[in-house]
Amino acid sequence: MRSVWIGTGWKMNKILEEAEPYLQEVLDYLEESGDFEGHIFLVPPFTLLRWMCRMTEGTPLLVGAQNMHWEQSGAYTGEVSPAMVKDCGAHLVELGHSERRAMFGETDFTVNKKVNAALNNGLRPLVCVGETAVEKECGVAQDSVVRQVKIALHGVQEDQVTDLVFAYEPVWAIGDGGTPADPSYANQIHSTIRQAIGELYGPGTADSVPVIYGGSVTGENAASLLEEPDIDGLFVGRAAWEAAGFIGLINIARAHLT
Ligand code: PGA
Repeated sequence: MRSVWIGTGWKMNKILEEAEPYLQEVLDYLEESGDFEGHIFLVPPFTLLRWMCRMTEGTPLLVGAQNMHWEQSGAYTGEVSPAMVKDCGAHLVELGHSERRAMFGETDFTVNKKVNAALNNGLRPLVCVGETAVEKECGVAQDSVVRQVKIALHGVQEDQVTDLVFAYEPVWAIGDGGTPADPSYANQIHSTIRQAIGELYGPGTADSVPVIYGGSVTGENAASLLEEPDIDGLFVGRAAWEAAGFIGLINIARAHLT
């Protein structure tokens, strides 16, 4: 069985005074509840990144950035480089979230440049892929997701690919107004993603790449999503923006592991 991943992306939310009690509550919980045989991660905005990395040093919590540029430095006003993300102490970097694709010009090709830059800087890319509602309606969900996965992996060596985590996040499932994917539907796409990775690197390697689900995950649907064989974890927005919500979801993942 692959390990379980459970994490939350905060999007453009939380200032320091909101993040402090949240993090303390999660750290206290982790200390009291003992070992967790999976991966727990937090993806705060850039303004909290270095602070959060410092606060979580020596704890099981992994911390990630929400985006980055692919160049190490240069005349890119407003951007943050892989070297800077690494320098903050981050373990991972979220790339290609649908909000970035829809609103900030992120494409499969810029995601690919960022994936390679992340790997070359010792950062684990957390690559978000997912079809839009129209693509689903037209019966090209699988094609869209396979295209996103294969372009993201262009130039990635076989010994690097197991450092990636893919998050399947159907665009129609994300955020206010989103509908969570049916677990069996999500599982089918996860299996397609794994197959696409297998076509490039072989099924054995593909089997070691975590593919997690995101989009309207809640305390109510988390367990049934985790029960699906190809769903290796959950990437949560709104339902984990309060510490209690995140802790509840970690407990569900914990129960799934035992
Ligand atoms: P949501 O966000 O859980 O609030 O739908 C998920 C995401 O954007 O990753």
